[in-house]
This record gives sequence, structure tokens and C-alpha cells, in this order.
Amino acid sequence: MNPIHIVILAAGKGTRMQSVAPKVLHRVSGVALVDRVLQAALTLNPETTTVVIGHEADKVRRHLGDRPGLFTVVQEPQLGTGHALLQAEPILKDRSGTVVLLSGDVPLLTPATLQALVRTHREAAAAATVVTAVVPRPFGYGRVVRVDGEIARIVEERDAAPPEREIREINSGIYAFDLAPLFEALRGIGAANAQAEYYLPDLVGIYRRQGRAVTTWRVTNADEIRGINSRSELAEVSGMVRQAKNEELMAAGVTLIDPATTYVDSGVQVGPDTVIHPCVHLEGSTRIGGACEIHSGTRIVNSTVGDRVTLLNHSVVVESTIAAGSSIGPFAHLRPGSVVGSGARVGNFVELKNTSLGDGAKANHLAYLGDTIVGERSNIGAGTITCNYDGARKHRTVIGTGAFVGSNSTLVAPVTIGDRAYVAAGSAVTQDVPADALAIGRARQEIKADWVTRRAQPARSEK
Ligand code: UD1
Ligand code: CA
Repeated sequence: MNPIHIVILAAGKGTRMQSVAPKVLHRVSGVALVDRVLQAALTLNPETTTVVIGHEADKVRRHLGDRPGLFTVVQEPQLGTGHALLQAEPILKDRSGTVVLLSGDVPLLTPATLQALVRTHREAAAAATVVTAVVPRPFGYGRVVRVDGEIARIVEERDAAPPEREIREINSGIYAFDLAPLFEALRGIGAANAQAEYYLPDLVGIYRRQGRAVTTWRVTNADEIRGINSRSELAEVSGMVRQAKNEELMAAGVTLIDPATTYVDSGVQVGPDTVIHPCVHLEGSTRIGGACEIHSGTRIVNSTVGDRVTLLNHSVVVESTIAAGSSIGPFAHLRPGSVVGSGARVGNFVELKNTSLGDGAKANHLAYLGDTIVGERSNIGAGTITCNYDGARKHRTVIGTGAFVGSNSTLVAPVTIGDRAYVAAGSAVTQDVPADALAIGRARQEIKADWVTRRAQPARSEK
């Protein structure tokens, strides 16, 4: 079988996005456009994958990183899609097979359509195969001009004559090409058009005039080939992806109280019988267990949540792990590196940073625990603060199992509180507390009897 080579065009500026960021790094449901295209492309098991970059090339290259079999080539300046594909010649010139050309801004293409494209192309032994769709509003797309039912050429919106603008069959910008004649033919493309660019779709007319076979694969669901050129299209496509994800979750047994206001990124997993209230955001690589309840206003990013966890309103959880049966919030903030044990409780206005709470441990109200380890079943009183930062460096606090830290204590790190130890309320703890001990670190209370009465009777002379 002749091999597949993927080329993804991603060099354009994306002028209509009005963005300093390259268009293909904009995200749909948490995944960059170019990554969506790559995910679909890799299902074809390509021999090589080449991304043509140009505008903000460094940012795109950094985003892509090192991946085996992945090449980037720079197109500078950007003279059009035909010129863009030409830049892949150094990677492909000594190879053979089929080039599958994808656009970095067409993110909904399915693996099934790519399979169909390659199959159609091979069966027709074509020089080029174009993925097309019939749409109600073709504005902005290249139109497929047919003669006697056969594709004859593609004309861009801006170059189309009025009758051609009536054509509703559009070019998706996705093609398969036989590698053998490709680069020679690309050099034959001119730039005598409205944008003075080298248009890749012109290859269709060139091949037809040369008598080469060109065929088409028409998708039935035109949404698949939607290109993103503006913020408005980004929002529309994001809405479609989000709705599909919500349907998938509900089909798998997740209750969404209001799917219209539930925001779950594509890469997120949620277990059955979990209930998600309105205005919840689950982002990145988050995994939620079964039978959880996630209340309104909660945002969870790249985190793992076990079964039967309750997240009360307006909690924010980032890069953290929460074990089964625990309760978080309302208004809790779990910052990166936090680990909450099973059956533990993190209550309102509690902030954790790089802190682990053992099984059954509790920090129920108004606390800041940073760079801290809290043992199983320990209780952290309201208003407890770990002073983990001395202005230059961060220090750790270690609290044993079954310990009790009284309300409004200040734990000055580095400091250790032993198993079962008690810290009296209002203490400033600066020395380690041994196991089973009580630490009292506060000023002794004084009583001044009848002080109020004495103050209320000023000396007669002062009057
Ligand atoms: C292109 C097609 C049009 C098709 C539409 C489908 C051309 C001339 N037109 O139009 O027929 O209906 O896609 O979405 O190809 N790019 C480069 N280098 C360049 C120019 C573009 O890499 O010099 C990249 C862009 O980053 C983008 C892709 O090619 O990812 C398509 O370019 P874009 O300018 O969006 O083309 P359209 O006007 O949408
Ligand atoms: Ca486009």
C-alpha cells in the first residue's frame, strides 16, 4: 500500500481573527485548532506529517513540540495556499504515495471522512481528490465548478462571476494528491487573481487541462468542514463541539441540569450518575468519578476527582487530586499540587496550595494551607494560616495524624506538629510541637477589674 503523507497548512496570519496569537493556536473546547486537525490526521497512520508555519512560526513550533514523524517547514512570506504546500517539498521530494492536505483552521473533520477521501482517491487513481460539501450559505468559500458533472475547476469567492457565486457546492480546503506530479504542477500555479496569491485550488483546473483525473468526495454533514476565520466562527464551532460533548455525557449517564450552561472540554471524562449543575466548567484533562455532585459556579482544571465527591458552589480546583467521598466548598480554592484524601472536608474560604490533606482530615472554614502535609483525621480550625513564605523562600509545614489545630493559629514554617498534638486557639507556633503535646503560643490574658467604671468617672478638675 502506498504511504500517506499529511501536510497541514498553518502559516496564514488569520487577519479576520484580529489576534496577536496565531489562528491555529486558538482553542475549541480546550483543544487548539491545529491539535484537533493533528488528532484526526494521525488516524491515517501517516508516514510523515508536515505542518507549514509562518506567521508567529516560533509560537506554533513551540506549541507543537517534538513529536516523532512530525516536521515543520516555514513559509515566509505567505503567498497563498499553493505556495504554502510548495514549502513541504524538501520533506516530500524523495518520497512517494498520497499527500493528504489539511487546513489548520478546519477542526471538525472526522477520521471517517479522511478514510473516505483516501479510499475515493485510490479507487479513482486520481491526481487530486477534493473534499466538497453542499451548503445553504456558500459565502466566502471557493466554489466547485462542474462541467458535465465532473469537477472542472475551483473559483474563489472574490474571483467568482455572479453565476458562479450561485454555486452551493464548496471546496473544503481538504484534498488528497498523488505525490508524483504534485510539486511540478504547483510551480505552474499563477497569482493573477483578486488577492495576488498562489491558490492551491487552481491545481484542479491545471490537472484537468493536462487531462489528469480529478475527483471529489462530498461530505453529507457540512458542519464537519467548517473553517474558522473569525471569532464569531470560533464561538459557533465551539458551541457545536460543546453540545456534542454534553450529549455524549448524558448518553453515558451524567445528569446535566442545564446543558446550555455546562462547559466541558473535549478531553474531560465524567463517571455515571454524577450531577452537574448550571455554569460549571470542567477543563483540560480533568477526570471526574461517578455519583459526584458539582454545584453551580465551580471550575475544575486538569484535576482528578474520585467517586461520590461533593463540590459545593463556586469552588476552583486546579491541577489537584480529590479522593472519593470528600466534600469541597463552597468557595474553596485548590491551587496546583493539592491532594485531598478520601472523606476529607475542605470548607468555605479555604485555600490549599501544594498541600495534602489526609483521609478524613478537615479544614472547614477560612484557612490558608500552603506547602503543607496534614495527616489523617486531623482538624484544622477556622482562620488557621500557614506562614510558608519568609519573603525569599518557601517552607513546609507538617502536621501529623489526629492532630487538632485551634482556630486562628499561625503556623510559622518550617514547623512540625506531631501526631495527636493540640495547638491552642490563637497561637503563633514557631517551634515544633511533639506528639501528644499541647502548644500554647499566645499572650496571657489579663483582667483589669472595674476598669470601665473607673474610666467613666473622670477627675472633677477636668470638667
Ligand atoms: C481556502 C480555499 C477555499 C476553501 C476554503 C475552505 C484557497 C485559495 N482557498 O480559503 O477554496 O473554500 O479554504 O476553508 O486555498 N495558509 C498558509 N499560507 C498562506 C495562506 C494560507 O499556510 O500563504 C493557511 C492558513 O493558515 C489556513 C489555510 O491555509 O490554515 C487556509 O487559508 P485561508 O486564508 O483561511 O483560506 P480561505 O480564504 O479560507
Ligand atoms: Ca480559512
